[in-house]
Amino acid sequence: MWNLSKERKKSDFKNTKYRLFLFVLFFTSCFGEAPGPSQCLLEPEHRFDCAPEKALNKDECEGRGCCYLKTSEKSDPKQPSCYYPTNYPSYKAVNVTRTETGYCATLVRSTKTFMPKDIMELQLEVFFETDSRLHFTIKDPNEKRYEVPIETPQRVKSQPSNVQYDVKINTEPFGLTVTRKSSGEILLDTSMAPLIFADQFIQMSTKLSSNYVYGLGEHLTSLNLDLNWTTLTYWNRDLIPRKDANLYGTHPFYVAMEKDGSAHGVFLLNSNAMDIILQPAPALTWRTIGGILDYYIFMGPEPKTVIKQYQEVIGHPFMPPYWGFGFHLCRWGYTSSEMTRDAGKQMRDIKIPLDVQWNDIDYMDAQLDFTYDPDRFGDFPEMVNELHEMGMKYVLIVEPAIGLSSPRGVYKPYEDGLKRGVYVTNGTGHPLVGKVWPGLTVFVDFTNPEAHEWWYDMLKEFHDKVPFDGLWIDMNEPANTHVHGSIHGCPDDSQENPPYVPKVVGGMLRHTTICASSHQHLSSHYNLHNLYGFTEAIASHNALIKIRGKRPFVISRSTFASHGRYAGHWTGDVESTWEQLYYSIPAMLLFNMYGVPLVGTDVCGFVGNVTEELCLRWHQVGAFYPFMRNHNTIESSSQEPFVFSKETQKAIRKVVLRRYMLLPYLYTLFHKAHTCGDTVARPLFVEFPSDRNTWTIDRQFLWGEAIYITPVLEEGKTEVKGYFPAGVWYDLVTGAGVESKGEWFTLPTPLDAINTHIRGGYIIPTQRPGMTTEETRKNDLQLLVALSADGSAQGDLYWDDGDSLDTYKKGDYSMILFKAQNKVLVNEILHINGEAEKLTLDYVAVCGVHAPPSKVLVNGAACGNFKYFPGTKLLKIKKLSLPIGKKFEIKWA
Ligand code: NOJ
Repeated sequence: MWNLSKERKKSDFKNTKYRLFLFVLFFTSCFGEAPGPSQCLLEPEHRFDCAPEKALNKDECEGRGCCYLKTSEKSDPKQPSCYYPTNYPSYKAVNVTRTETGYCATLVRSTKTFMPKDIMELQLEVFFETDSRLHFTIKDPNEKRYEVPIETPQRVKSQPSNVQYDVKINTEPFGLTVTRKSSGEILLDTSMAPLIFADQFIQMSTKLSSNYVYGLGEHLTSLNLDLNWTTLTYWNRDLIPRKDANLYGTHPFYVAMEKDGSAHGVFLLNSNAMDIILQPAPALTWRTIGGILDYYIFMGPEPKTVIKQYQEVIGHPFMPPYWGFGFHLCRWGYTSSEMTRDAGKQMRDIKIPLDVQWNDIDYMDAQLDFTYDPDRFGDFPEMVNELHEMGMKYVLIVEPAIGLSSPRGVYKPYEDGLKRGVYVTNGTGHPLVGKVWPGLTVFVDFTNPEAHEWWYDMLKEFHDKVPFDGLWIDMNEPANTHVHGSIHGCPDDSQENPPYVPKVVGGMLRHTTICASSHQHLSSHYNLHNLYGFTEAIASHNALIKIRGKRPFVISRSTFASHGRYAGHWTGDVESTWEQLYYSIPAMLLFNMYGVPLVGTDVCGFVGNVTEELCLRWHQVGAFYPFMRNHNTIESSSQEPFVFSKETQKAIRKVVLRRYMLLPYLYTLFHKAHTCGDTVARPLFVEFPSDRNTWTIDRQFLWGEAIYITPVLEEGKTEVKGYFPAGVWYDLVTGAGVESKGEWFTLPTPLDAINTHIRGGYIIPTQRPGMTTEETRKNDLQLLVALSADGSAQGDLYWDDGDSLDTYKKGDYSMILFKAQNKVLVNEILHINGEAEKLTLDYVAVCGVHAPPSKVLVNGAACGNFKYFPGTKLLKIKKLSLPIGKKFEIKWA
C-alpha cells in the first residue's frame, strides 16, 4: 500500500539558464501595489478571499495587492472583505509540452504572495489516463514533498483513444480548463482566482458547472451542498456532529451536475489539513496546508459512472460477512457480561432478530486494550462462546491509545509496543504522551509496518482468550480527550502554528488530538493526521483475516478516501434528535458515494435521552442503513427495543423482520459494490439524473435501483410527502401499485409503518426472516416481481457461504438472473457453485398483473397454489419448491 519514500530528494534540475532566470525573478519580486478600481470590479460572488488567514483592514488588504470592501458595502456578510483583483499575480506556464499521455509544463511565479515560502517554480503534469479519467499533478520539481501513500492506478504508457475531455492550458496567468467534448460544458476552470503554492499554503479555485454539488465529507450537511459561502474543513476530529465543523473523516471528492443532466467528479488526493470553500459564483476553492496538488477528474457522464470511476482510483469496498447485515446491539454501559447477556436475552424474549452483540470500553480492565475486567467480565470467553452457539456474533471496541501507567511488567501490550517502537514519537524521539480513557497514553503509529505486526500479535493473543468476530475501532482521529497535543505541550514550530490554520474547531491543529509536529514512520503527523483511522482500519482488517481466516468486519469512526476497501463506518456521537435522524440519511448516501457502503448512524442516536416515538422512527430508518446498530452513551436512558411499550416493540419487530427478509437483495447489492463500485444506499438523483426534481432529495432514498424508502422524519406525523419519479411503484407490503408521472404524493404512515416501494421493472430476491441471519439463510427464497408498465421486470441474486474470503475470486458463488416478460418468469443461471445449489424457491408475488389469471403453469405443469387479489392486482404463487440453481419457468395466463 505504502508508496512514500521517506527521503526528501532533490530532483535533477539541470536547466541552469532557467535557474538563473528564477533567481533574478526572486530578487525583483514584489507585492504590495494597490490594484486599480477597474481590477476590483467583480461581481460579489466572483470575489475570492485574499485574507484567508486573518481579518485585514483596508491598508493591510491593499498592502498585499488586493481589493477592499467595507462590511456596509457587502450584500452578504459572508462575502470576503478583501479579495483578489483580476490582475493579482499568479503563475505563468512555460515550456508547455505535449507528452505521450498528456501534457507537462513548468509554472513560474515572478511575484511572491503574502504567504511565506512561495514555491516559485512548479511542475504541472497532465495524464490522460482513460477515456473518462483525467489526472493532473502540480508539484515542486526541486524538492520532494509529501504525497498521500494510498495505492492508485498505475501510470498509463499511451494515451487512450477516445477521450471524453478537452484540456486547455492557459499560459498567463496559468489556468487549466477541462471541457466535456460532447457538450462543450466547462467542468473545471482554474483561472477564476490565482494559484498559490507556498510550502504551507496551497490554493486553487475552480468554476463549478452548476449549483448541484455533492460530497466533500465528512460534514453534517444535506445531500447537495450549500454554495452560499460555505467553508468545509478537513482535520479529522472527535466531535458531536454539528454543522460547520470538521468531523471524523476526510473525503475531498465531489460529484457535480451539469446543465444537461450529465455529471462529473473531482477528487483532490491530499491528506493535509484543508479548507474547501464554496461560493455562489458557483465556484470552489481548495486550500490545503501541505502536500501536492493531485487531481482526478471523472467524466461520468452519469452520476453512477462518476462514482464507479472514483472507485477505480481509490479501490472497491470489501465484501462484508453476511452476519454483518444483521441487527447489532450495543451500548456504553453494559458494565458486566451479565448485563450484556441479559440484553441479548431480552431481545430474544421479545422476538426481534439480533445477530451481533457488542461491548464498549466497559469490558476492559482499567480501560486498557487487550484486557478484560476479571470481576465484571470474569466469564467473558464463555459469554462469547454462548453467542456463537446461538448462531450469533460478537464485536468489541479497541482503542488506538495505549495506557502506559501500569506498574512495570503488568501490562505487556504497552511494554512490548515500546520495545518494538510502534508509537508516535515527539521531537525528542520518545513516544508522545496524551491522555485518553486509561489516563496517560501513547498512540500507535499505524503507518509503521512493525505496528501492524504488533497489532496483530496483541489481537491474536486476546482472541485466543475471547474469540471475538469483529472490531470496532474508535477514537481514531486520533482523539486525545483530556489534553491538547501532549502532556508536555507541543513545540512552537511551523507545523504546530502554520501560517494558515484551516477553520478547525478549537482553532489549533492540536485541539483534542496529538501534536501536529509529532513523528510517524512515514512522515510527520502534520501530513498523516487525516490518515490515522484509515491506517488503523488497514491494520485491523489484515489482522482479523489472519486471526479468523474469514471475512473481516471492522467499523471505524475515522475514515479517509479509500477506507471502504478495508472497513465500514458509523457516523459517531450523534444526538438523539429528529434533526439528526434526518441528517443520518445524507450521511449514509454520501458515504456510499465515497465507496464506504457499510455505513450507519447509531439507531436512536447516541447522546441524550431518546423519546419512544423518535426511537421507533429511528429503527424504521435504521432498518435501511446498510449497517444497523442501536448504540447509546452511558449517561442516557436505555433505548433497546425491549425498554419500550409492546406496540413499539411490535413495530420495531416488523421493520427489523422486513430488513431480514430483504437481505438477499442487500447482499447482492454489496456484491455489486465490491465488484463494480455500485452504491448500496443510493440517492435518488444517482438513479434518475435526468429528473431535476431528484437533485435535492435526501429525505427519501433507494437501496440499489429498486427499493425506495420514504420514512417519517418528523415528530407527531403520521403521513409524509414523498416524490416518486416517473414509473410504477409498488408498496412492498400490499403490492398495490401507483403510477407516477414524476409527482409528490402524501403517504399515510402510521407509527408502525415506513413506506417501502419496489420500482416497477425489478425483481427482488427475499427470504422468510428468522431470528438471526444464520437462521434466515436456511429458509426458502421468495421473489417479488414488480412489473413495469409494459409487463416486464428483472433482477438477480448473488449468493455464497457469506463468510469465506474471496469467494467471488475463487468462483465459490452463484449468480442467478430472473426475468419476467409476457407473463412468464424464468431464471438464468450465470454461475452456480456452493450454497445456492441447496436453495429452493418457494414463493413468488407478481405485482401489476392487470387481469386475473385463469391458470399458472410451473415448468409446464398446472399449479393450483395461486391466488389473485384484484384490488391490488397482485398474484401470489405459493409452495413452489423449485431449486434455484435449476432452470425454471413460471407462466400465468
Ligand atoms: C466514542 C464513540 O464515538 C462512542 O460510540 C463510544 O461509546 C465512546 N467513545 C466510548 O467508547
